[in-house]
Amino acid sequence: MYSEKVMDHFNNPRNVGEMEQPSGVGTVGNAKCGDIMRMYLDIDENGVIREAKFKTFGCGAAVATSSMATELVKGKTVQEALEVTNKAVMEALDGLPPAKVHCSLLAEEAIHAALWDYAEKNHLTIEGLKKPVEDIEEKIEEDAEQ
Ligand code: FES
Repeated sequence: MYSEKVMDHFNNPRNVGEMEQPSGVGTVGNAKCGDIMRMYLDIDENGVIREAKFKTFGCGAAVATSSMATELVKGKTVQEALEVTNKAVMEALDGLPPAKVHCSLLAEEAIHAALWDYAEKNHLTIEGLKKPVEDIEEKIEEDAEQ
């Protein structure tokens, strides 16, 4: 039921780890399943993401999506990184089973949380970036209401 790419990123996750002095760090959880993801970004003076690292205490799909998300944001500008949505991550992984789509939201939101932290630290505004939620369930409910 999982694509080969999902299995590959689950078995050999890329960019696992922490950073001592990240430009931005963000943590997002999902209260329903109890999973947590932390994303670290190292951003250079031109606003380009040099390095991305993550720690995920979560299910296999959450590990695979955060691994792919870190690969996708590397080398991108902060503005381009906003386009690394959960859909983009899922496409890059050749899809996820419907019951696991919410796990990919954790990766998207963790990127946003790290970017938010970076923007706050540097007194910047990143166009199109909304204040991230701490618990992804809030976002899932919000989207359902829209
Ligand atoms: Fe919690 Fe996948 S089941 S993130």
